[in-house]
Amino acid sequence: MSSVKQIGVVGGGQMGSGIAQVAAMNGIHVCLFDVDPPALSKASASVSASIARLVSKAQLSQSEGADALQRVRFTSNLEDFHQADFIIEAIVESEDIKKRLLLQLEKIAKSSAIFASNTSSISITRLAAATSRPHQVIGMHFFNPPPVMKLIEIVRGAQTSDETFAATKALSERLGKKVITSRDFSGFIVNRILMPMINEAFFALYTGVATKEDIDTGMKLGTNHPMGPLQLADFIGLDVCLSIMKVLHAGLGENKYAPCPLLVQYVDAGRLGKKQGIGKNKFAGEGGIKKCGLAYFVLVSFGACSQVQSNHLPATFKTVLKLSLPPSTVVQFDQRPNHELLLVQRCPSMTIVSIIHVLLLHYDASSFVSEFSVLAQEF
Ligand SMILES: NC(=O)c1ccc[n+]([C@@H]2O[C@H](COP(=O)([O-])OP(=O)(O)OC[C@H]3O[C@@H](n4cnc5c(N)ncnc54)[C@H](O)[C@@H]3O)[C@@H](O)[C@H]2O)c1
Repeated sequence: MSSVKQIGVVGGGQMGSGIAQVAAMNGIHVCLFDVDPPALSKASASVSASIARLVSKAQLSQSEGADALQRVRFTSNLEDFHQADFIIEAIVESEDIKKRLLLQLEKIAKSSAIFASNTSSISITRLAAATSRPHQVIGMHFFNPPPVMKLIEIVRGAQTSDETFAATKALSERLGKKVITSRDFSGFIVNRILMPMINEAFFALYTGVATKEDIDTGMKLGTNHPMGPLQLADFIGLDVCLSIMKVLHAGLGENKYAPCPLLVQYVDAGRLGKKQGIGKNKFAGEGGIKKCGLAYFVLVSFGACSQVQSNHLPATFKTVLKLSLPPSTVVQFDQRPNHELLLVQRCPSMTIVSIIHVLLLHYDASSFVSEFSVLAQEF
């Protein structure tokens, strides 16, 4: 394909708006489309603010900034893509929605247009197979934020042609990026290596190996990473990390990719990352696993109870408790109001109740251990 003159970007979120900005700053005319009008206004404001910041820092001249802004057009009409040589989709990470978009684009775009997907994890081969031009479909994986990050991971689907690959590589280099090339297997290169590391950091936290601060400091200073894996997960979004782990697990079929239960629980609790500030606020479940390990030890060693009931247990503690007990154990939590913690025991002993109270009151395992040993002697 001859040199790309006009790009279409679909999706004006974090990635799409950044990609449009990079293209405009590198002399290419861009049309940015989003289905959601507020998202389109937000994208427009974000590109303007980002370019203004670069001008204020003298990283762009006034006229370069103004020219770049002039090259971006925001539209709520996908038909405007009929002239685009190259279309990059950066919409929501859903295979069905992306496939539907490609089918729509096929009707609008010129026959020579290349379709690139910024997907983090979806198979390019499957996306391509949904179209009638699979050899013109490719993965173009930018990193966040696109104006800052120097890398583009190009992903060749099973049917991507050499010509499509060459045009995508040339465009990426025009955008000032370093290119790496991956075959189309789950996670490509970077996420396949990065996400299991983040998942393992969650396992280290979950099993009480260390505090989140020590895990992050260890990886920062011990391996020269600019930020620790938990902080990075916070930036990426825990929901994104979880969904990529699920894709790795399903796509590569190995248990080593199974998502950490604590990561699953954070996402279930709606703690998705930077927005909710997991890096700032201590999560109520942290350290709970140690107590649950001890609770499990007490319950099993003393064969004491078959059922736990309480309406005062924090939801996170309940989940962790369930996770740490053997699957056959029935744990029920009584929903009745004003119903204090109650253990239905096989060998009646109120000491078990006391122990569980201590477990609940003392999140710090070290202070718990001394009290636990006193209580244990009462048996
Ligand atoms: N966020 C990251 O760090 C990151 C990094 C690399 C790749 N990605 C990938 O980039 C893509 C976008 O991610 P994001 O973080 O920018 O998401 P985002 O949620 O910030 O933005 C997605 C945008 O797409 C729009 N949209 C949804 N469906 C649409 C449709 N059918 N047509 C047009 N617009 C539509 C939404 O309104 C929204 O504005 C995803 O595939 C994601 O996996 C994300």
